[in-house]
Amino acid sequence: MTQNVKPIRIAGIGYGVPETVITNDDLTKLYDTSDEWIYTRTGIKERRVVSGNENAVDLGFAAAKMAVENSGINVEDINCVIAASSAPPQLYPALSCNVQSRLGIPNYVPSFDLTAACTGLIYALQVARGLIGAGIYKNILLVAADNNSRLVDWEDRSISILFGDGAGAMVVTEAEDGVDDILSLDVRADGSIGKYIYMNIPGNNCPLVEPCEQVDAKIHMSGRDVYKFVVTTLPKYIDKCIEDAGMVASDIDYLIPHQANQRIIEALQQRLEYPDEKVVSNIKYYGNTSAASIPIALVEGVQQGKIKLGSTAILCGFGAGMTWGAAVVRLREGIC
Ligand code: COA
Repeated sequence: MTQNVKPIRIAGIGYGVPETVITNDDLTKLYDTSDEWIYTRTGIKERRVVSGNENAVDLGFAAAKMAVENSGINVEDINCVIAASSAPPQLYPALSCNVQSRLGIPNYVPSFDLTAACTGLIYALQVARGLIGAGIYKNILLVAADNNSRLVDWEDRSISILFGDGAGAMVVTEAEDGVDDILSLDVRADGSIGKYIYMNIPGNNCPLVEPCEQVDAKIHMSGRDVYKFVVTTLPKYIDKCIEDAGMVASDIDYLIPHQANQRIIEALQQRLEYPDEKVVSNIKYYGNTSAASIPIALVEGVQQGKIKLGSTAILCGFGAGMTWGAAVVRLREGIC
C-alpha cells in the first residue's frame, strides 16, 4: 500500500436522519411477517424513512452541516466534496453538488459522487486520503447519504425489512501537527459476485431498435449469499487491517461496523473477542442505512457517551459490488 505523504486529521463528524419511523409491527400491514422474525434474524426493530419532499440531499445537508460545524473549518475553506451515495434522489446533479451549494461551499469547488454502496464512506476516505496526501486539496467534506426507502420494493419482505434512510458526514484535513488519524485503511471489490446485490436504472431502448421493455428498478439481493460472503471474508480481513496498523485487536478501543445485520456484527465481535462495551451497534433503531451507517453509529455513540473520544476505532463495511473495506482510525477529542 502506498504511504500518503501528508498525514490526515479527522476534523469533524455529523449525521442526519429523517423523523418518520416505521416499526416492524407497521410492516405487518404490508405483508406476512412479524416483529419476532425480523428482530431475531436481523436485530432490527425500526427504521427511519424520508417523507414528502424530503430526500437524501436534505439528510446529507444536515449531516454535512453538523460535520463542518464540528470541524471548526469554514465552509469557504472546503476544497472538495465527495459524496458516497448509491440510492440518491437523482443520478445527476450529483448529491455532492447539491450539498455543496446548499451548504454555501464556494460554487467552484469540485464535487463528485462515488458508488461503493455500503462501503462508500470508507472508499471516500481512501480517495480523500490520496488527495490530501498528495497535497492536491487540504480540506475535504465526505458525505454518505441514501434514501433507500424510495428504491426498495415494499412488497418484497426479504429486502424492505432491512433498509432505512440516513446520512453521515466527515470533514478530513491535512494534519498540521503531523499526527495521522488513519492508522490503516484498505478497500476492496469483487465484481464477479456483483449479482448478490444489484439495482438497475429505469429506462428503455429506442423503439426503432427493439420493442420497449421497462426495466425493473428496485433493489435485488440474495440475502443468504451476502451473509455467507461477509461472515467468511470480513473477520480475517479485519485481522489484516489491524495488523497493517501495527496493532493487535485489544489495542483498539471500539469496533464500529456497517450496520447490516446484528448477527454479522456479533460474528465480528467474536472474532475480535470484544466485550459489548467496545462494539457500537444501533441497527435496532435505523436498520441498514448504507454508507451512512458507520458515521451515524459513530456520532450517536459519542452523543450517547458510549464512545469516549481520544480513542481508536476500527471501521468496517461491505456492500454491493461486492465491495468491502476497513480502517483503523484515531478519534480525537472535539470531532463531535
Ligand atoms: N418475514 C417472515 N418470513 C420471511 C421474511 C420476513 N420478512 N423474509 C423472508 N422470509 C421467509 C422466506 O420466504 C423463507 O421462507 P421459505 O423457507 O418458506 O421459503 C424463509 O423466511 C427463509 O428465508 P431466507 O431468505 O433464507 O432467510 P434468512 O435466514 O437468510 O434471512 C436475511 C434473510 C435477509 C435476514 C439474511 O439473509 C441476511 O441478513 N442477509 C444479509 C443481507 C445483508 O446484510 N444485506 C446488506 C448488504 S450491505
